[in-house]
Amino acid sequence: MPVGVVVVAAGSGTRLGAAEPKAFVRLGARTVLEHALDGVAGMSIAATVVIVAPQSHLDAARALAPDAIVVAGGASRQESVSRGLAALPAGVDVVLIHDAARALAPAALFDRVAAAAQAGGAIPVLPVADTVKRVADGLVVETLERSELAAVQTPQGFPRDVLERAYAAAVREETDDAALVAAIGAPVRAIPGDELAFKITTPADLERARLLVGPAPAARRVGVGVDAHAFGDDATGALWLGGLEWPGERSLAGHSDGDVVAHAIVDALLGAAGLGDIGGMFGTDDPAAAGAHADWFLPRAVDRVLAAGFRVENVSVEVVGNRPRLGPRRAEVEAVLSALVGAPVSVSATTSDGLGLTGEGRGIGAIATALLT
Ligand code: CTP
Ligand code: MG
Repeated sequence: MPVGVVVVAAGSGTRLGAAEPKAFVRLGARTVLEHALDGVAGMSIAATVVIVAPQSHLDAARALAPDAIVVAGGASRQESVSRGLAALPAGVDVVLIHDAARALAPAALFDRVAAAAQAGGAIPVLPVADTVKRVADGLVVETLERSELAAVQTPQGFPRDVLERAYAAAVREETDDAALVAAIGAPVRAIPGDELAFKITTPADLERARLLVGPAPAARRVGVGVDAHAFGDDATGALWLGGLEWPGERSLAGHSDGDVVAHAIVDALLGAAGLGDIGGMFGTDDPAAAGAHADWFLPRAVDRVLAAGFRVENVSVEVVGNRPRLGPRRAEVEAVLSALVGAPVSVSATTSDGLGLTGEGRGIGAIATALLT
């Protein structure tokens, strides 16, 4: 039997008190409404979806769910449901009505309700944990028999003709659809609900939902940088590599100190941020860069990256070359570079089996990656 799901999302969320209507408040990376639609999308059968949204958010709802029918809601939940029902296409025989505010209702609950609703009204319920009393003017009138009580959730499912008759006959505002169906004398069965289908009503409910959903993953950007320099002719010059001086090792040629590790890291950082590369940023003829070390290049590159709104999460750099042996000073290099970048920098090394860049021993190469958020 073709199933239609009406998701009512037109309330303003007075008790939640957010700036946006409740269904458009963020829960992790996405809105309350998107989470609610996940439950529908996960159903084992494809359902026709009608979203009832605030007049101000019709386009926003359409953008979230291009395949859904989107209509404007009314002043009350009941009015909103009735507008959603009117928008259901012909051919839909079973209708589920769902509060977008029950954002985390799982797909299995939709399936359960849809299956039960083939045979008549079906609503998901949970046992009541609290003792419930009738109170008037601050005085307890009676204690209700808890074992007879049930807390009612959505989605609520009905044969379409039954629900349409119930809405046509409605004479008063009810807080759920089953109450209208019961009012025309049609049976409604209670089936097991789900703790996750709780309604987001207050800020505390929203907090609970956010804890369940987890934080929005930060946007990530990765960059790669490569550099290589040949050994210089100058036998007296000192080698600078990874921000450190290496006494006794052959120096590298270059306008700056030739520190391929620092230069590769700069390119990885700039590349991840979409800011070009070291040549474009500092220029190969910048007099300030002449003989400059890692402690000149790296903080400048990091400043640009931070100014572009990024944070450096980590950098990994691999040195390619036969000499110097990095192992004995690896921790020292990592400490210096991490301090300059302001994030963990890990350093590895390979001789590349005597092959390229520059395992042939004609210089030193380095390849770096940087992760930004
Ligand atoms: N709803 C609706 N149209 C309305 C009122 C409510 O579509 N005029 C929807 C809400 O968007 C929600 C569901 O009905 O998904 C349950 O209502 P409730 O939790 O009371 O939401 P709000 O009415 O938005 O919240 P409040 O009562 O705190 O203002
Ligand atoms: Mg309300």
